[in-house]
Amino acid sequence: MQTSHKIILGNSQQMSELADGSVHLMVTSPPYPMIEMWDSVFAKTEPKIAELWQKLGADDGEETVTQIYDAMHDCLAKVWQETYRVLADGGLACINIGDATRRVNGKFQLFPNHSRITEISEKIGFTTLPYILWKKPTTKPKYKGKGAFLGSGFLPPNAYVTLDCEFILIFRKGKLRKFQAKDKQRYESAFTKAQRDEWFSQIWEIKGTRQTATELERRTAAYPEEIAERLIKMFSIKGDIVLDPFLGSGTTTKVAMQNSRSSIGYEMDENLLPTITKKINNGSLGTISNLGIIKR
Ligand SMILES: C[S@@+](CC[C@H](N)C(=O)[O-])C[C@H]1O[C@@H](n2cnc3c(N)ncnc32)[C@H](O)[C@@H]1O
Repeated sequence: MQTSHKIILGNSQQMSELADGSVHLMVTSPPYPMIEMWDSVFAKTEPKIAELWQKLGADDGEETVTQIYDAMHDCLAKVWQETYRVLADGGLACINIGDATRRVNGKFQLFPNHSRITEISEKIGFTTLPYILWKKPTTKPKYKGKGAFLGSGFLPPNAYVTLDCEFILIFRKGKLRKFQAKDKQRYESAFTKAQRDEWFSQIWEIKGTRQTATELERRTAAYPEEIAERLIKMFSIKGDIVLDPFLGSGTTTKVAMQNSRSSIGYEMDENLLPTITKKINNGSLGTISNLGIIKR
């Protein structure tokens, strides 16, 4: 099946290249608010966040921490709002997000990104559907220095639970998608019983990319292809258009290509273009004639 693919190097807070209702599925993993590796990306997108971090250094205000967290989610909310606009009626949005734990100004706390994104998405108009917990088997609890356990070792009550799951939040725009009876593409996209039983259960145990990833992939926190592949096969049919507004190393584009879906990916960091094209080329065995790269 002929599909087409676009990579747009630019900020997805505005997706002016895309018409209203033109996309069937969004699959993405944004930068995670309050996870240190993404601080500079948020500060670059919204200069107010950089100012707030500086202010935090100068005062001890919990209020400033809350303002930073809010501002990071405001950044993401603009993308969720645009996603709502470009999704077709019945289109789905799948967001891989982890919560964050962090000690800021001496206070350790959880930043529950998944619940904030759910609240914001509902305000935008999305319907929340049951979510998936991605349990990473690579996160082994350890103790004494190198471990995942935080707090006071074996003494109650001040130790903290380890975060070893991420969320895959699922939302729908509008009503259920409609198809003609016996729609050919839809029937050709059917999954098997074994796939249905595994994919539609709430806990997924899938290894992270950490062991196999290149340095650049690590820096973009690429998700495993298996995650993108399951979501694309669960929530779209062959010939559909899949959007990733935070493309990173290009995982979603590669998987869409391999599964007869068209794709559009936005990535703000132009330095990632060689990584993206390399990943796509490897995936397609060098037969890409239908790839458009747009630099804003
Ligand atoms: C967590 S990574 C995505 C990883 C991706 N799923 C993969 O497998 O490689 C998030 C990416 O979003 C990009 N980004 C952050 N804010 C953006 C924005 N507003 N518009 C476009 N890209 C953005 C970052 O540069 C980063 O590469």
